[in-house]
Amino acid sequence: MRYTDLKLIVEEGKSIFIETLGCQMNIVDSEVVVSIMKEHGYGYTSDIKSADIILLNTCSIRDNAEHKIWHKIKEYQHFRKKNKKLKIGVIGCMAERLKSRLLEEGGNVDIVVGPDGYRSLPALMGSVLGGKKEVNVELSVEETYAEITPVRLDANGVAAFVAIMRGCNNLCSYCVVPFTRGVERSRNPYTIISEVEELIKDGYKEVTLLGQNVNSFKWNDERGDVTFPKLLAMVAELSPSFRVRFSTSHPKDLSDELITVIASHHNICKSIHLPVQSGSSRVLKLMNRKYDIEWYMERMYAIKAAMPECAITTDIIAGFCGESEEDHQQTLAVMREVGYSAAFMYKYSDRPGTRAHRSMEDDVDDDIKTRRVNEVIELQNHLSLEHNKLDIGHVFEVLIENSSKRNSSESFGRTSHNKAVVFPSEGHKNGEFVNVKILECSSATLKGVLVD
Ligand code: 5AD
Ligand code: SF4
Repeated sequence: MRYTDLKLIVEEGKSIFIETLGCQMNIVDSEVVVSIMKEHGYGYTSDIKSADIILLNTCSIRDNAEHKIWHKIKEYQHFRKKNKKLKIGVIGCMAERLKSRLLEEGGNVDIVVGPDGYRSLPALMGSVLGGKKEVNVELSVEETYAEITPVRLDANGVAAFVAIMRGCNNLCSYCVVPFTRGVERSRNPYTIISEVEELIKDGYKEVTLLGQNVNSFKWNDERGDVTFPKLLAMVAELSPSFRVRFSTSHPKDLSDELITVIASHHNICKSIHLPVQSGSSRVLKLMNRKYDIEWYMERMYAIKAAMPECAITTDIIAGFCGESEEDHQQTLAVMREVGYSAAFMYKYSDRPGTRAHRSMEDDVDDDIKTRRVNEVIELQNHLSLEHNKLDIGHVFEVLIENSSKRNSSESFGRTSHNKAVVFPSEGHKNGEFVNVKILECSSATLKGVLVD
């Protein structure tokens, strides 16, 4: 018998450590996996050394994610030396593509399960514990794990993620997600509401609703249609002191109705992640983004008109197939015009299975990609700093998430605009809302003091 982190006693051989690579959606998936396994007598441990089973939840979005997988699996083999019975599994987005290499070519992995196969994990794991190797990489058109309440592994007890849909139908030409996570499916909204109600009861103060393109959420049953703006309003109206965020919004589908819902609920955070990917309409067309830069800017101004204080963040890919110097300059110009408060910035990496891989040439030299992404990052650092400087002297409501990593007498929290704030804590606890006056900033963090 073993004691595990969830205060469960489980049989020898049934304690799982799970490591998650990639996005927030994968974090929720790991929590769903732990929930399913827990129902079948397995436990969870946060200590890899004491685990009987190590699962690696993988990401496929860029090629460095793939390198990481092989590195991690090699690392896990060391634990086999101490525990001959250790089982190693690979789950998530890379399962399908790597399955034969993982299971056969000395990959030394016992089980491979894709993102829609988690309900089969307990049965497959039973067989693995009996000495077999198992694989299930089938994708589904309906699996949403709707009624499964994830076991929260982050355990700060303040902010949680809730998946509202799975998969993606957009087929952006660079993106592997539609192939690794399958077609778009919306989750039953009433199970989403119940999950958020549970979070509120458990003392959580913030939720982020997750989907690859939340704007295309749709549900219809005898109670009527539920669109994303409606779902967002339903969640926000559960409790006035509970914050709501969402990610990601595809610009092609960002509606005026959604903007109105965000503007009219004080507890829906005033921060919108609106990935532009490129500032050039020519490149956007090659990317199959289904909007041009004029459309994007019009949506951005519609947000600013309704909520002048709303922060906008983005994703940018530098060096996509066919990107010229002029296209790159257009991206920098759009960044300046929008004045993003933050951005995720990537060098384009060719992904097998995508439309770009099949029919476009990855023709921007790597050193040019590197130079362009560095220019994008440098500009964003400047824009983030300028954005943050505007906050100096102002007071913001901050939700305390933790103590500061650098100094335990300081607290760390976030504003509605999703900006990180550090301040002397004066005995306040995680999960409290406090008012902080900003005194100084860097490009990444605001620093301030508590005020009444
Ligand atoms: N290369 C680089 N970045 C990519 N992204 C998705 N696919 C690729 C790729 N092949 C980025 C996009 C997306 C974010 C989640 O990852 O910017 O919005
Ligand atoms: Fe990929 Fe585009 Fe879907 Fe986002 S919207 S997951 S970038 S295909």
